[in-house]
Amino acid sequence: VRGLFVTGTDTGVGKTVVSAVLLAKFPRARYWKPIQTGIESDDDTAEVLRLSGRGPSGARAEGIRLRHPVSPHLAARRAGVRIDLDQLTEWTAAEDGAWIVEGAGGVLAPVNESQTVADLMKRLKLPVAVVARTTLGTLNHTLLTLEALRARSLAVAGVLMCGDPNPDNRATIECQGRVRVAEVPRFDPLTQASFATWTAPAWLEEYLA
Ligand SMILES: Nc1ncnc2c1ncn2[C@@H]1O[C@H](COP(=O)(O)OP(=O)(O)OP(=O)(O)O)[C@@H](O)[C@H]1O
Ligand SMILES: [Mg+2]
Repeated sequence: VRGLFVTGTDTGVGKTVVSAVLLAKFPRARYWKPIQTGIESDDDTAEVLRLSGRGPSGARAEGIRLRHPVSPHLAARRAGVRIDLDQLTEWTAAEDGAWIVEGAGGVLAPVNESQTVADLMKRLKLPVAVVARTTLGTLNHTLLTLEALRARSLAVAGVLMCGDPNPDNRATIECQGRVRVAEVPRFDPLTQASFATWTAPAWLEEYLA
């Protein structure tokens, strides 16, 4: 596969919103959520299609759907199953489309007793985009995330800072994280029409066009 693995510094930082805006801007890209937890309240695939205005062909069905809104390893254990990354990613071997793959939680969220989301990234061999908050606390979380990715030889495509702009935090992440940063504003309202105000940085074309 080609494309981007969209991870975050935390849960709830804007991975799904960023995936939706990317899906709206790059009509040839498609979306996949390998592990969806908390399915009684959360459906990132439906949310991404709704926000981006793309039809059902804009996404592939989730790899695994789990009821409990907890870490993947725990949600799987409670469901009496084990997440097998080889099995989950089998279909990608013969696939050459551009995919936006949204992880669960952050880089080191456990997926079973011994593996984490980083192992899923490794199998997919996709460059990683890190979605980060713009507010206080983001420097530590973002620099830790970049260090964890690089320690595993995972390619970092860039950081997408999601929310009200904070130029000091952006500059610090670019400089101390040695990384490209793009800003995604807080969309108000959070609708497809608001996405028109955002222009994707040119470097994303390399992965998603
Ligand atoms: N750029 C944005 N503009 C407006 N609202 C946003 C933006 N980013 C995030 N939000 C708000 O924050 C909520 C959480 O964001 P989102 O669902 O994208 O997080 P996530 O990282 O995908 O979480 P999860 O780990 O559950 O997948 C959204 O439902 C939305 O209400
Ligand atoms: Mg999400």
